[in-house]
Amino acid sequence: MESIKIFAPATVANLSCGYDAMGLALEALGDEMLFTKTNTKGVRISKIYGADLPYEADKNVAGVVAKLLLDDAKVDFGLDIEIWKNFKPGSGLGSSAASGAGAAFAVNQLLGSKYSKLELTKFAMQGEVAACGSAIADNVAACIYGGFVLVRSYDPLDIVSIPTPSDLAVTIIHPQIEIKTEDARKVVPDSIPIKTAVSQWANVGGLISGLYSSNYDLIGASIQDFVVEPQRKLLIPKFDDVKKAALESGALGAGISGSGPSIFALSKGDATAKQVAETMDLVYASTGIDYNIYVSHISKNGTRVL
Ligand code: HSE
Repeated sequence: MESIKIFAPATVANLSCGYDAMGLALEALGDEMLFTKTNTKGVRISKIYGADLPYEADKNVAGVVAKLLLDDAKVDFGLDIEIWKNFKPGSGLGSSAASGAGAAFAVNQLLGSKYSKLELTKFAMQGEVAACGSAIADNVAACIYGGFVLVRSYDPLDIVSIPTPSDLAVTIIHPQIEIKTEDARKVVPDSIPIKTAVSQWANVGGLISGLYSSNYDLIGASIQDFVVEPQRKLLIPKFDDVKKAALESGALGAGISGSGPSIFALSKGDATAKQVAETMDLVYASTGIDYNIYVSHISKNGTRVL
């Protein structure tokens, strides 16, 4: 195989109660990238559409991750990369994860599937280090595995795929303001009272149980965040209004997508998810801030060949 074009999905990390530990992949939104083998060794980024990102391979997340795989596999070829960013960096939708996971997946295909999904996740986590300084797995694992993932352990890395009910739909509003993950992580408390921890991990158990048993009420009741949301929501205009409107129009639960500013809501069925989109729209229309709204199913496949 000489070249490969791939789709790397946008992802929703944390799902409120699972900071750094849970993520899901979206079907309706993601980046596209074309990887072509070259005779000259090294990685070259030749085109980036849709975002102002560095062309220097060692400063570009896709370039960093692609180079790690090529070096590890000790190949005698190089790579040219073209990138179509369909959602902006600093969105809370896993933009750097899509670049890193997409690169890991694509290069692995060109190498004849040398590496496992777990190994690809580890490579892509180095892209997160390049992007925000932390080796976070929730977005990249969701992007590589697809569906809903639990990062059960970071050391050793253990990723568990969790089933989701087929009728679960996601609504996202992406206000076009950039929040850098690095900055959003600075407002996360260093420690929390044991009472708060109990509430948080009880909801993680509730959410996982609800997903396994298709118990929509339990899923909704468990989408709560006592640890991160109280601080991070202050960075997101109209967060409380959007969440309230989403719940009033039938969403099971709503919260901050990843490190924000995007806000996600989970609903039972497309009709409710679209209704939630309409009310999010109403809340944001008067803000003067540009925004995009998406309704999506959960992507079963994660990153895939186009
Ligand atoms: N879990 C991460 C965070 C997601 O909330 O900071 C962003 O990569």
